[in-house]
Amino acid sequence: MLRHHLRAALAGWTLAALLFAYAPASGRPFWPVPVRGKHAMVASQQEIASQIGIDILKRGGNAVDAAIAVGLALAVAYPQAGNIGGGGFMLMRNAKGESHAIDYREMAPKAARRDVFVDSNKKLIQGEGSSTIGYRASGVPGTLAGFDLAFRKYASHKLKWADLVRPARLLAQNGYAQPYSVTQLLKSYDDKLGKYEDSKRIFIRGGNGYSEGEIFKQPELAATLARIEKAGAKEFYNGRTAQLIADDMKAHGGLITLDDLKNYQAKERTPITGTYRGNTIITMPPPSSGGIVLLEVLNMLEGFDLKTLGYNSAAKYHLVAEAERRAFADRADLMGDPDFTTVPVQALLDKTYAATRRSSINLKHATPSKEIRAGQEAGRESNDTTHFTVVDKEGMVVTNTYTLNDLYGSQVTIKGTGILMNDEMDDFAAQPGTPNMFGLIQGEKNAVQPGKRPLSSMTPTIVLKPDGTLWFALGARGGPRIISAVIQAVINVIDHGMDIQAAIDAPRIHHQWMPDEMWYEPSGFSPDTIAVLAEMGHKFKKKPENVASATGIMIDDKGVRLGAVDSRSDGRAVGY
Ligand code: GLY
Repeated sequence: MLRHHLRAALAGWTLAALLFAYAPASGRPFWPVPVRGKHAMVASQQEIASQIGIDILKRGGNAVDAAIAVGLALAVAYPQAGNIGGGGFMLMRNAKGESHAIDYREMAPKAARRDVFVDSNKKLIQGEGSSTIGYRASGVPGTLAGFDLAFRKYASHKLKWADLVRPARLLAQNGYAQPYSVTQLLKSYDDKLGKYEDSKRIFIRGGNGYSEGEIFKQPELAATLARIEKAGAKEFYNGRTAQLIADDMKAHGGLITLDDLKNYQAKERTPITGTYRGNTIITMPPPSSGGIVLLEVLNMLEGFDLKTLGYNSAAKYHLVAEAERRAFADRADLMGDPDFTTVPVQALLDKTYAATRRSSINLKHATPSKEIRAGQEAGRESNDTTHFTVVDKEGMVVTNTYTLNDLYGSQVTIKGTGILMNDEMDDFAAQPGTPNMFGLIQGEKNAVQPGKRPLSSMTPTIVLKPDGTLWFALGARGGPRIISAVIQAVINVIDHGMDIQAAIDAPRIHHQWMPDEMWYEPSGFSPDTIAVLAEMGHKFKKKPENVASATGIMIDDKGVRLGAVDSRSDGRAVGY
């Protein structure tokens, strides 16, 4: 017996010795190390775009200048999500500690009525004419208006607007090597893009496709960017580009008119702010649901000792899922465009409200979603957004998420412009009260209305240390899973002591209340963990899938900028 204990103890010591010999620094598991930059950093899902941002910073631009140049470069070099035909949200904080949020979300055209996607039998329209594909699926794009507003109010003005557009225009003109990932991705988009003449010719070369490393040029997009370089963003809304969009829309039964384009305005919103374990969280208000859901979940989780539970324990995943289930139920019922409906932001962010919500969490059992709130579900959103973050040498940070919604948006490229359009109308509740084509029911507050912006999940976020200094900033792509990625990355840094790359790479779950199922990732979850969660009553998505893809920058104790792009996706941070 004694010998048995001795052997066990020796085995334990040997194991401990091995672990100590090979263990990485505390809080840093086996994920890649972040990119380091003494002065500045750009993290985006395309290395060429990150490099363009760094070049702008080296020429004296600030983080806003760089963010605009990166956003335009991604419209060329990451056309599946980077865009000028979509919209998004930009959050920033300058070195003086002032924060600003720009909402350049797409807007429903004037002709878009509540039942625009419903046929005479009260069924959701499928295919052409639906909210997901073709000319009617697009909201009025906001990207250029958003970048223009950011430029006018917050850029350094050491560089001109044209200086920020030129790198993207040259990239479209001279081309870049088609990445392997895109050649693979396009195989599953052949049929959809192939339905639209310019998309077919440009993105899948008439159906013949591109091979890895082949130079991909976009001359029509280069010409569009040249007009915008010369005449400014107004050219898109009021010039030849606007006319080309309106004409193509008219010719194909689309909803967007010249008036819709002329009337589009990016808006400044007041960022929402909360705290998590003494750290300040600055994030995006409605019409994104992202910031509210993030803060609601963090407020609920603050009442649990996650650090002791460990980043990958079943007990921690259970608590994250339970908090998300409750916050996503609120999302479905209570959120929409604040210019059209009342969103009880302060009430939802109240710590007392979180304590009440938290008290209904059973530590040992999953609460069935139907017992939390019945009848409405989180909106259907797709994967295909992109996020980038910039920190400049002064410490100004810009964190930006923008999207076409689906990969390649509505699949429509406007004739003669090279501009891929969004299918953001699908982020509205296409038929409130009735399951849409994906089996989801959505709330009345997010019904289609002319001039309204659809509810989003984009969650650009900035985190400050308790002393008020910038700690890290991040965001993600992946529809409602964006929020889960940001929540768990924030917890991984604050509770589990990880650096930004590890925090972003660590396995994660997603629960959006309805359908009542947990998403978990194909790697990173042991069968034992899943068994424990199943025993607690959790149901799982049949096929495990990755939960979003995040991008972020952290400032270390010495002021070094640490850049991270999710190992789940392409892209690379560049610093200097
Ligand atoms: N289109 C994805 C989102 O806005 O959440």
